[in-house]
Amino acid sequence: MSDQPRLDIMFFCLGNICRSPLAEALFRERVQSRGIGDRFHIESSGTSNYHVGEAPDPGSQKVARKRLKRDISHQRAQQLTDQHVQDFDYLFAMDRSNRRRALRLEGADESRIRLIREFDDSDTGEDVPDPYGGGDSQFDLVFDILERSSERLLDHLLERHPELQ
Ligand code: 4NP
Repeated sequence: MSDQPRLDIMFFCLGNICRSPLAEALFRERVQSRGIGDRFHIESSGTSNYHVGEAPDPGSQKVARKRLKRDISHQRAQQLTDQHVQDFDYLFAMDRSNRRRALRLEGADESRIRLIREFDDSDTGEDVPDPYGGGDSQFDLVFDILERSSERLLDHLLERHPELQ
C-alpha cells in the first residue's frame, strides 16, 4: 500500500466501446507523458450493459492506433455501478444523457459527475457525439474533442490537487 496521493478517474458513455475507451486511453497517455502516471487510477465504463466484456469498437481501436500509437484492444467494456460512483473521485460523462443516467445511481452527486466537454475550449457543443456505426471521420472527430478536453482536464485537476505534482 502506498500513501502517495492519487486520484481515481472514471470516463463513461453508453456502451463503453466507442467514446469512453478512447477517453481512458488518451488521459492515460497524457498523465504518463507528464511523468505522473502513478498519481492516477483511470478506468472507463458505460451506463448500459449492452456490450459488457467486449473489446473497443474497431473504429476506436483504429483511431487509437493511428493517432495515439496505442493498442487498446485489451480494454473490456464494463457497466457503471453504484460502487464506482461511490469510489471514484471524479466521473466524466461523454454526453448529457449519460450524465443524467449516472446521477440516478446511489451516492451520485453533481459536483463529482461532470461532462468531459466542460474542459473543451472549442465551444462547439456539450456532448461528445456518438460515433457508433459511423465511419472514420466520426471517430476522428471524437478523438479531436477528447484530445482537447483531456489536456485541459488534466491542467484543471492538477490546479485543484497540487499535491499530485
Ligand atoms: P459509446 O457508443 O457509448 O461511445 O460506447 C455506443 C455503443 C453502443 C451503442 C450505442 C453507443 N449501442 O446502442 O449499442
